[in-house]
Amino acid sequence: MSSISIIGLGNVARALAARALAGGNAVEIIGRNPAKAKELAAALGGAAVGAVGAAPAGDIVVLALPYAGAAAVVSEYGDALQDKVIIDVTNPVTPDFKGFVIPDGSSGAQEIAKAAPAGAHVVKAFNTLFSHVLAVGPAEGRQLDVFIAGDDAQAKARVSAFVESLGLRPWDTGDLFMARALENVGLLELGLMNHSVKHPNFSLGIALLG
Ligand SMILES: NC(=O)c1ccc[n+]([C@@H]2O[C@H](COP(=O)([O-])OP(=O)(O)OC[C@H]3O[C@@H](n4cnc5c(N)ncnc54)[C@H](OP(=O)(O)O)[C@@H]3O)[C@@H](O)[C@H]2O)c1
Repeated sequence: MSSISIIGLGNVARALAARALAGGNAVEIIGRNPAKAKELAAALGGAAVGAVGAAPAGDIVVLALPYAGAAAVVSEYGDALQDKVIIDVTNPVTPDFKGFVIPDGSSGAQEIAKAAPAGAHVVKAFNTLFSHVLAVGPAEGRQLDVFIAGDDAQAKARVSAFVESLGLRPWDTGDLFMARALENVGLLELGLMNHSVKHPNFSLGIALLG
């Protein structure tokens, strides 16, 4: 069992919190709108509501926010994130889905890591799963894959255990620099959704052939 704090009250926060609770994890919801946070926690049942700016209760803190606000939020929390595993789910893409809003040679996760305290560990995960796919979870015998990137092996092991508690399959892709590759996969999915698949009810994953 993991103890998770989720910052954000949107699609990803709701889907992740519901699956986390179903998987037996302790869940804290943190949102800048306290009434909305309370409402979401009540709808989910069993989730606590955390105060904005206070130290998150969870050992794992999920940034379920638009990329544009994520680094600033991490800076605001500052040392309250000391020793936490920070999961970055963001896809830092331009509004037209034709590129990234981050410098070449970096990734959203690496930019967020620059804002985190030295003892925190940023792990990229979940950015390649559409929120409603996450909400439905594995169905009809299909596995759902979660790709992970991070520099700290122990932090990745904790995220992998959390992923498994959700009934999903974790795949370690390497160090945090691989977040850029995962963000490209996010962009690929948006391209597929807009140009050929035409809906977000799909996922990309690993087919082991031998
Ligand atoms: N949706 C997907 O299928 C999907 C899949 C993979 C990854 N992602 C990534 O996941 C992240 C969240 O996506 P989403 O679909 O859940 O977005 P969303 O439904 O728009 O929700 C975003 C949440 O972030 C909160 N927020 C925004 N700026 C904030 C700030 N500065 N401080 C505190 N809270 C802030 C919003 O607060 P208010 O409620 O107060 O407005 C809202 O609750 C994005 O980075 C996205 O790229 C999304």
